[in-house]
Amino acid sequence: MSFTDSDPSGEEAFSSSVVLEQPAAAPESLLASADMPPQRQITEEIGQLHAEAARREAAGDEVPATLYDFAPYRSSILRHPTKNPRLVDPETIELFSPAFGERDIAAIERDLTLQHSGEPLGERITITGRVLDSWGRPLPNQLVEIWQANAAGRYIHQRDQHPAPLDPNFTGAGRTITNDRGEYFFTTIKPGPYPWKNHINAWRPAHVHFSLFGVAFTQRIVTQMYFPGDPLFPLDPIYNTIRDQKDRDRLIATYDHDLTVPEFSMGYRWDIVVDGPDATWFEPEGSH
Ligand SMILES: [Fe+2]
Repeated sequence: MSFTDSDPSGEEAFSSSVVLEQPAAAPESLLASADMPPQRQITEEIGQLHAEAARREAAGDEVPATLYDFAPYRSSILRHPTKNPRLVDPETIELFSPAFGERDIAAIERDLTLQHSGEPLGERITITGRVLDSWGRPLPNQLVEIWQANAAGRYIHQRDQHPAPLDPNFTGAGRTITNDRGEYFFTTIKPGPYPWKNHINAWRPAHVHFSLFGVAFTQRIVTQMYFPGDPLFPLDPIYNTIRDQKDRDRLIATYDHDLTVPEFSMGYRWDIVVDGPDATWFEPEGSH
């Protein structure tokens, strides 16, 4: 039986002769257009903008942790936020927003390797951590959702035309609820880096997208978790919209050998710290 016969996605698979000979070149449609800047220029711009932010901070300016108006991230130039977020009435929006309960999530949904008849290809990993508030208190019963590319760096999404193989045994989405200690657990495979056409030879570092729902729809936050030691960190404009190394470090999971399961999976630990209760809930010292 050939690979093509067993591929339910209908995608054209590599035949063994192609694998042994020259790898296929990227189709014309995937090559960078002539007006795309090279990586060298993007890296220089990142360095200049970080230096400028550091100068402004040293001069006493209040500089946000994330630089939204960040030219090296070309595709965000016309769509990044230019105004402060609007406050909405949380009670009104909750009347119309999605809701969830612990019973809506099946335990199996936290294992992305069990969603099909076979096992996905790639390096099996577990990711675990705690969801904490600003005071380090665990946040139980939080909806944590993840989505990611497969081991070859390909999303199942139709707009992803990266010429890497889809994996018929991997969808790349999972969800879970934090337990009483604020902990979450996922089993998945390590995603590959992928090209994204922000500039010539633009590759995203391997990452897993995370969404946390909070206790209300208005509190949802979305972020990305990275893997330690990725050589693409200094080159990636998205990762570098965060201007401080200590803040960027918080997005990088830690390899934890105690979490590595013998003969089974590599273990990564990643804690997520969200804001605490907002100021209206806080009783200042000396108040009545
Ligand atoms: Fe991604």
